[in-house]
Parts: sequence; C-alpha cells; structure tokens
Amino acid sequence: MNKVIIILYFLCFLGAGRRGFDNALYQHADFPIGCAVTAGQFLKYQKYRRNILCYFNSLTTGNAMKMSYLHPSVKKYNFKTTDRVADICKKKGLLLHGHTLIWHSDYQIPDWMKNYTGNYKIMLEEHIRTIVSHFRKKVSSWDVVNEAIIDNIQNPPSEWKKSLRKSIWYSNAGTDYIGQAFCRANEADSNVDLFYNDYNLINNSKKLDTVIAMMEDFLKHNIPIDGIGFQAHILVDKPAIDNIKKALQKAVKTGLLIRISELDIRVNTKGRLARLTPEADAALSERYREVVFAYRKIVPPQQRAGITVWGICDGSSWYNQGYSRYPEWPLLFTDDYIPKQAYYGFIKGLTAYIPEKKK
Ligand code: XIL
Repeated sequence: MNKVIIILYFLCFLGAGRRGFDNALYQHADFPIGCAVTAGQFLKYQKYRRNILCYFNSLTTGNAMKMSYLHPSVKKYNFKTTDRVADICKKKGLLLHGHTLIWHSDYQIPDWMKNYTGNYKIMLEEHIRTIVSHFRKKVSSWDVVNEAIIDNIQNPPSEWKKSLRKSIWYSNAGTDYIGQAFCRANEADSNVDLFYNDYNLINNSKKLDTVIAMMEDFLKHNIPIDGIGFQAHILVDKPAIDNIKKALQKAVKTGLLIRISELDIRVNTKGRLARLTPEADAALSERYREVVFAYRKIVPPQQRAGITVWGICDGSSWYNQGYSRYPEWPLLFTDDYIPKQAYYGFIKGLTAYIPEKKK
C-alpha cells in the first residue's frame, strides 16, 4: 500500500512540473519552439508572461542581451533584467537562447565600444568571456556573431573573408574575429550551443554559400561551432517554398544544428490592407504551415535546434515599431493573445505526416 502511495505521489510530482494546456505549440514538436520577448514586459506584465509560458518552451530576448544592454560601460555589466528572465525560464522549464554577443548594428553598440582606443581584440574577448560565463547553466545556446557577411557578394565562397561586412569589429579586431569569438565563447562554457546567425540566407544563395564556406572552414580548423541560424524574416509569398527547402538542404549538409531563429511573415508589403482580413490570415496560416513543415521534412531530427517566432502579438512586432512602411500582422497572436489562423497553420506544419524516406 505504502508503495502505491509513493508511486502516486511521484506521478503527481511529475505532473505538477508540466506547463501549459494541451494545444501549446511546443507540445506538438520534438524540437524547441521559441518566441522573442521584450524582457521588460515579460517581467512586468503577468498576462504577457503567462501567454509566452503557456505556448512556448524556448525564449529569446529580442533586445536585452545585445551589447549595449548587457555591457553599458567598459567595466560595467548589467545582468539584472536578464538574470530575472533566466530565473523564470529555469523555473518554468524553458530554454533561453542568448542573442547576441557580437553584432554590427549601430543602435546596440555602446558608445564606449565605438570610441574605444584600446585593443579591440582583447576587449571583445573579455566581453564574451564575462557574459558567457555569467550565463553558464542558464543559457542553452548563443548567437555568437550576428550578420557578419555582406549581401552583395562579389567573391567565391572559399574567399569568404573578402565578403565580411566592414563593421567596427572587422576594422578593429581583424578578419579572424568571428572564429576567435567562437573559441572564447566555448572556453567560457563548453556545454552551450554556439550559433552563427544571419538574414537573407534563403533568398540570396551566394550569401548562404559564403556562410556555409565560413562554417566549413571553422569546422576544418576545429573552431567550436554548433549551428547556423536562419533569421527568416520572410513574406507571405516570397521566397518560394522550394528556395526555402533548397537553402535548408544546403545547410543540413554541413552536419551542423539548424535553427529558424527569427521567423515572422509579412503580408502587407504593398500596403493594401488596413486590417488583417480572414483571407490574409488564411494565407499567413498556409505559409506558416509550409515553412514549419519544410523544416521538419528537410532537417533531420538530430540537427533540429528549433524554430523561434520573432514576437508574440502582432502589435508588438518590430515591423509595427518603425521597421515597416505599412501595418503588419506577421505573428501568431492578436493583441489580445488570441491565436490567429496562422497559429493553427503552425500546428499543422508541426503535425502533418511525413512519409518515411525509402531506403
Ligand atoms: C530587432 C528588434 O526586434 C527591435 O526591437 C530592435 O529595434 C531592432 O532589432 N535581426 C536581428 C534582431 O538579429 O536582433 C533584430 O531585432 C531584427 C533583425
């Protein structure tokens, strides 16, 4: 009898750890399903937090882990906000993806880095070592470098160094700053997965080939990299699904982990819509389905590092915060956290049957 009670207690204990309800995205997937969040809102608004915890099992802070927020002055790191986010993730069983240790984008480079007069290489090393060590056991993967390759590629992939963006990092820390960044991150936490993340990897095959050549070069020289992140800020009708599949196929051949790291889908690039019509939502739904399905079909289970949607409610998408000319509805939820048709399209993509490949 005692044994039965102990077993019952144990089962209740297991059950108590489970989150969400029975139609959450992540419950349909055998890989992480994530969402980018605004850290401040996540901590402050219970409703925002509750909805994210309910539907997703992975989280990326959309801004809070970028350079200027974590490292505002030369000797000062600000971990307060993100530590609280990381604690909640840990408690609730969500993975935390760190975005991003190095990026060229002006708004997130602190002024002190822009005006630095010391040795940039040493400064970046210290930046990476401090941040990655701090989040050891809290962050499960990092975007080590974001968007380091240019769009207008003029050189063959093997000469990828010639296609590096002439960023502040390239100019001051040298052409091997990317490989160095991966080495330093691995020294600080050898258990975390390390990603290179970029945009336009689907519709710009020269750029993808260049990124792949860089990653293969790193693998050849035992530089510790684990995966490639496809940002995937795409449109409802572009790029063609065949191009998405081809791009994933090429990346899969590297043997690295593949993440769709910042998925959102624009439907109003011509500005014809004043609201999201049921037809437009249906088109979005179909697009989410085909993209998610393509990911499952092309990327083998052991290489699936997950899909992250870049935000939760349409209104708070970066496109509606000044990054698009027209209003957009690129995400899965309305501003009242009601799942759109797009949400169910995502589930269809996660659950549709994939016939086994003939041996
Ligand atoms: C965006 C954030 O969502 C915005 O809030 C911010 O104003 C600009 O950056 N690629 C990336 C992300 O890697 O970090 C960007 O996030 C979107 C494009």
